[in-house]
Amino acid sequence: MNKILNHFLLILIISSHATFSFASNHYPITRESKLNNERGKLLYTQYCASCHQVNLSGAEDWKGYDADGHRKAPPLNGTGHTWHHSDETLHQIIKYGFAKLIKNYEGKMIGFEEDLSDKEIDYILGFIKSHWNDEYYDHQISISIK
Ligand code: HEC
Repeated sequence: MNKILNHFLLILIISSHATFSFASNHYPITRESKLNNERGKLLYTQYCASCHQVNLSGAEDWKGYDADGHRKAPPLNGTGHTWHHSDETLHQIIKYGFAKLIKNYEGKMIGFEEDLSDKEIDYILGFIKSHWNDEYYDHQISISIK
């Protein structure tokens, strides 16, 4: 199957079957607070950069598969499709990983629920959003308003 389509189906599955609940946060998450973005940057560097790269560019040739046959880490900097997902979906992906959202998931995006609080996840999201152009940012905010 076409890989991009595959990805969208994945997200569709997550969106329709995810019934996890988590502490309600203040959506949409903005990138207005420089302090929170800095907090997010520190956490991102510690927990995410090893796969998504320090500059958020994702793995080289990210649309391909790694030696284990798993999908590679996509860019989070706005050149991929992260900005197509609402805050709620992104929060769940980071908190629970695909591992807990998709049955028999064998890929590498595991959840960070043990390491990061809901607040910390949202600091990271604010930091990620600070890399997007205004058009993508505004669009993503509009689909995240509750
Ligand atoms: C061990 C490597 C690894 C680490 C560490 C990691 N990720 Fe990922 N991430 C991936 C992979 C691989 C994917 C694609 C998953 C798939 O399709 O199976 C992914 C997907 C994602 C997505 C979905 C992106 C999109 O465009 O749909 C988000 C958001 C994300 N990761 C955020 C994070 C954040 C935030 C952290 C740190 C808290 C993190 N990841 C840490 C490997 C990693």
